[in-house]
Amino acid sequence: MRIAEETVQRIQQQSDILEVVQDFVALKKKGSNWTACCPFHQEKTPSFSVSPSRGIYKCFGCGRAGDSISFVMEIEQCTYVEALQYLAKKYQIELQTEISLSDEDRAAQKEQESLLVALDFAQQYFQKLLLHSELGQALGLAYLRERGFKNPVIEKFGLGFSSEAWDGLLKAASTQGFSVEVLEKAGLIIRKEEGKAFDRFRDRVIFPIHNLAGRPIAFGARLLKKDPKQAKYLNSPETPVYHKSQVLYGIFQAKKAIREQNNCYLVEGYTDVISLHQAGIENVVASSGTALTEAQIRLMKRFCHQVTVLYDGDAAGLKASQRGIDLILAQGLDVRVVLFPEGQDPDSYVHKIGPTAFGEFLHRESQDFITYKASLLQQEARHDPLRKAETIREVVQSIVLIPDEIKRRVFFQACSRILDIDEATLIREGNLLLRREAVPKPLLPDVATPSSPDQETEEAVQAVSAAYPQEKAVLRLFLLYSDVLLEENGLKLGQFFRQELEEITFEDPACRELFGQLCQAIKAGQTIVPKSFLGMAPPKHKAFLADLLAEHYPISQHWAEKFHVHTPQEQDLLLPRAVEHVLRLKLYHLQKMQKENEQALIQAITEAAQDQALQQAIRLKAVQQEIASRLQNTIYKTS
Ligand code: CTP
Ligand code: MN
Repeated sequence: MRIAEETVQRIQQQSDILEVVQDFVALKKKGSNWTACCPFHQEKTPSFSVSPSRGIYKCFGCGRAGDSISFVMEIEQCTYVEALQYLAKKYQIELQTEISLSDEDRAAQKEQESLLVALDFAQQYFQKLLLHSELGQALGLAYLRERGFKNPVIEKFGLGFSSEAWDGLLKAASTQGFSVEVLEKAGLIIRKEEGKAFDRFRDRVIFPIHNLAGRPIAFGARLLKKDPKQAKYLNSPETPVYHKSQVLYGIFQAKKAIREQNNCYLVEGYTDVISLHQAGIENVVASSGTALTEAQIRLMKRFCHQVTVLYDGDAAGLKASQRGIDLILAQGLDVRVVLFPEGQDPDSYVHKIGPTAFGEFLHRESQDFITYKASLLQQEARHDPLRKAETIREVVQSIVLIPDEIKRRVFFQACSRILDIDEATLIREGNLLLRREAVPKPLLPDVATPSSPDQETEEAVQAVSAAYPQEKAVLRLFLLYSDVLLEENGLKLGQFFRQELEEITFEDPACRELFGQLCQAIKAGQTIVPKSFLGMAPPKHKAFLADLLAEHYPISQHWAEKFHVHTPQEQDLLLPRAVEHVLRLKLYHLQKMQKENEQALIQAITEAAQDQALQQAIRLKAVQQEIASRLQNTIYKTS
């Protein structure tokens, strides 16, 4: 789907960065900006700042920056189009798509939407029954109360109740106009061959399963009393809106906390998630009793870099969780584990020892998975030399799954200590395993060698131009003040930059592109409005642009008032600053030319070529000297 350019512009103009950020972060006013602790990294003192006038946010701690659209993309970990959809909804802007969907896609989208509406109706129906019907209160609510669930979490998770009746939901939904087809497709009712339809969930407490956006997409339903003839939980089948393997129970309610803590607790059951929330631990999701899938891990990875698996702490528990944990490691997430006493799951244990003790328990008992595995196996193999080799292999098997080479190295070191085996042996074993499995992953050199040529080329690619700070400084002034008239030379700043620097090739690709665009705009006689420039920029340039626009030298109004000092505003110093940056950039390029010329001089074979290079060297030196002295003057003026 492509959203029409016009719509993007409207969204850009109408969204207020302050309102958008405030939906997620509590901001405090400070001068003309608003600040808070950064939602993207952990910090104690606020370095996250929002500038409503410029329509941008910027964190001076982690460097993240952008506009409303990039903020939504970052905080919701969603795509550009999803962010636009979110903002369009918030500001009630009708989304116009450029490329019309095929009839088939349109039909599918329509169907999904109708299923979601039916599922939402069902959720409300079950919830009303639980909270407001006599039967629901007497049976469902009483059951939940007995299990220790209080109203806030019951409401937060939208829990409900379904009665014994065969067609309670079916009837209620039909009177609201939902068709039997839709209800069946949504997994809410079952139709027999003879055409008779009845409710899927009856006489149970209901746990709605929400998607990332918080809409109910499926249900889990639990028996109220033990009944060996029936499954304890009944769940929705796969439907067009519910793909079990891609969903984590509780992710909607947990995502904010997961991001803040950069850690996700992984449990098995619905009730574990709810009990932990009630105990104040909100960064928790459940795999709902099935084997963890890659899609589920990717979902967690959108919000954090670490998963802490909570499980029954015996060797059998380890075996059972091993495959899932391997998948997590292979996706590059750090894995920690917390072992529970036998017979306890997180839900039962938190009720047994209380929330405070439980929180302490999690902190105390959480340990790194790989070193835990190594210690556990080491203990088991202590009196059994034959098992030792197997232990080594099993531990190494986990280590080689980790994509990051440095991390692998750290674990080889740690496990070498735990297993009392020298590191080189472990690495050799790892390399053997990798070769055997033909895993396309760079191997660690068997013995330590200096960095490989591969790494060096990578560094070269990532190298930042030495001119980058100057290029950025120019672009910043260009973007912000291009229309300001410089009295000293009668030019507007934008014209000045264009005139002075059009010949120079900016070294940083993003800077080069932006400078070209700005010159184009000046040439066409357009006014440069930073906010709309930012709005139109492709997503990959947004952070760069917002970073440019963020105030690097915030001057406190408060200061000026309090101490009656005149703090020169950036605008007052515009020309000297602009001249300084221009000169510095020119100087940089002259120095570069000089270096190239020196090479030419060395390599010159003919006398004529030597002569030419010498002449050039003299010219370059002279210009450099001139610029250097002009630079001296401007610097004196500004300081
Ligand atoms: N599960 C399921 N169907 C079952 C049993 C379990 O779908 N017949 C799923 C549920 O998502 C459940 C999870 O597996 O939450 C874990 O199962 P279990 O540990 O047996 O249940 P608990 O979550 O502990 O539920 P309760 O405390 O209510 O017994
Ligand atoms: Mn349980």
